This record gives sequence, structure tokens and C-alpha cells, in this order.
Amino acid sequence: MPTKVLVTGATGAVGSHLARRLLKDGAQVRALVRDPARAAALLPAGIHLAQGDLTDPTAVRAALDGVEQAFVLLAEDAGAAVAEALHDAAGRGPQRLVLLSAAAPPAPADPAADNPLFRKHRQGEAVLAATGRPVTVLRPGPFASLARQWIPAVRGAGVIGAVHPDLALPVIDPRDIADVAAAVLLGADAGPGPLVLSGPQALDTPERVRILAEVTGRPLTVRRLSAEAWVRLVGARLPEAYARALLGVEEYLRRVPPPLVATVEEITGRPARTFRGWVEDHAAEFLQTGSRAG
Ligand SMILES: NC(=O)c1ccc[n+]([C@@H]2O[C@H](COP(=O)([O-])OP(=O)(O)OC[C@H]3O[C@@H](n4cnc5c(N)ncnc54)[C@H](OP(=O)(O)O)[C@@H]3O)[C@@H](O)[C@H]2O)c1
Repeated sequence: MPTKVLVTGATGAVGSHLARRLLKDGAQVRALVRDPARAAALLPAGIHLAQGDLTDPTAVRAALDGVEQAFVLLAEDAGAAVAEALHDAAGRGPQRLVLLSAAAPPAPADPAADNPLFRKHRQGEAVLAATGRPVTVLRPGPFASLARQWIPAVRGAGVIGAVHPDLALPVIDPRDIADVAAAVLLGADAGPGPLVLSGPQALDTPERVRILAEVTGRPLTVRRLSAEAWVRLVGARLPEAYARALLGVEEYLRRVPPPLVATVEEITGRPARTFRGWVEDHAAEFLQTGSRAG
């Protein structure tokens, strides 16, 4: 019997690749999505679409019913609805969870670590652990797909603004997170602890922008911006609170550099994908065409 898996976030960077991978590997895949029409256009046939919001315990309970495993990402409620739905299921539903969290500092004693994004991930890990179900926690650092914030600059004047251009980040390809999740959901031994995940190489902003320029053929430059100027610049696309939280993460990572680890290779048996590889596979998006997931 194929294993039955619920994938949340299946229209997003990690979940879309994971849903495809699991389907290809013979699992029965159900995806909880907010907009089934949009999801149907993005995902292959064969993935069962359940409509609902991750913050709605009733929708989550229905989506979890009858699955053996679930991949959970954290929405604004930091996992509260998923935990409530699992509690109501009283032992039925998934017997294993893989949680997409983040590499976040453990203790809020440090005021610089008391960031809304860090809080969301700490809370999410705690509420899902409290359900008593086995949870494999994935703690990736920043995603390669954050480069999508540069699409307007690449299509426009070619000037990329950054508050901390010198911050080197081992950005991870979301598809590698999905491959690790798939391996764990399909039975790989992940060991007891959280899985800290990174890309293969730390790159600062000018290094990532140089790669983007080489691959897209567009001349690009980096300009250092103040925090206020950057928040104004991204204001059309990112809510202000989220933009400020991202800057807070960067400020923290300047003091505590994100780890460079080999977990992707250890779990999947092949090296982590490079940032250049992510850009090559998504170059069309920077050049006005192409799809939005992955
Ligand atoms: N981005 C990073 O650098 C980074 C780093 C470390 C950890 N993370 C973690 O990874 C997660 C995903 O990253 P991302 O934001 O970059 O992914 P993303 O590609 O923007 O995907 C987010 C997915 O979650 C779905 N979603 C969001 N809120 C939902 C809700 N209330 N109900 C149902 N579905 C919902 C979205 O569905 P729609 O298509 O309906 O919007 C989409 O499929 C984040 O939540 C964060 O916890 C991210």
C-alpha cells in the first residue's frame, strides 16, 4: 500500500517540489491549499487537493484525516491550528510529522534574538512537540529563493539594494529541503535531533548578485541602503512588519553566522544544490517569464 502523506504549503517553494517528489516515489499525496484552482495549475494531476487554511483547525483536521504522515509548515498562527487538529484527532491521523522550522536562536534572553520570525519557529516547534506525535524538525537557514526580492531590480535599473551586503549566507535551495523531507517521510533514518540544513557555500550579496548577473546576462550592481530606505524600497511587495523582521534576522546573523553543514548530503546521498543552480533553473522568472513555485 502506498503511504498517504499530507503536504502543506504545496504551492510554495518547498512544498511544490516535495509534493511532486512524493508522487513520483509512489506515495498518495494530499495537499492542503487555500486556492485549489491556482494549485491545480501549478501541480501535476494525481495530487489530491483539499481546500482550506492552515490556521483553521476544522480544515486542517479534515485534511489530516486518513493520512499516515504529514509535512507541516508554519503559518501566522505558528502551528496552533495543526496542534489543535491533532489533539482533536485523539491518536488518529498522521503518526509522523516533518516540520519546516528555521535555524533560530534557542533562547529569547538575547533581545536581538527576540524577533517575530524566530518566535514563530520556536513556538511552532514547541506546540507540535507537545502533541506527542513523533516530529522531525527541519531547521534550514535562508532560502536561495529569497533572491526573488531582486526580480524588480533585475528587470529594471539593475541596482540591488542591501542593508548588510557583506553578510555571507549559505543559502539553501528549497528543493533540497524538500528532498530531505521526502527522504524522512519515506523512511530515512534522520536520528533524534532537529536537522539543521544549509546550502553548500556561504555567499555575500555581491557574490550572489554576480552569479545572478552572469546567468541572466543583465549588468547588476549592489548599493548599500539604510534600513529605512530598504523597508521603503520593498514596501510594495512585503508588509512592513515582515520586512523589519527579515532585517532583524540579518542583524542577528551578522553576530552569529548561520552554520554551514553537510546534512543535505548526509540524508540524500548527494551534494546540496548550489545558488548558481537555483538561479539557472529560475532565470526565466527574472527575465519576465516562468512559473512561481520552487
Ligand atoms: N524563506 C526563507 O528564507 C526561510 C528560511 C527558513 C525557514 N523558512 C520557513 O519556510 C516556510 C516557507 O517559506 P516561504 O515563506 O519562503 O515559502 P513560500 O514559497 O512563500 O510558500 C509558503 C507556502 O505556505 C502556504 N501558506 C502560507 N500561509 C498559509 C495558510 N494560512 N494556509 C494555507 N497555506 C498557507 C502558501 O500558500 P499560498 O500559495 O496560498 O500563499 C505557500 O504554499 C516559512 O513559513 C518559514 O517558516 C523560510
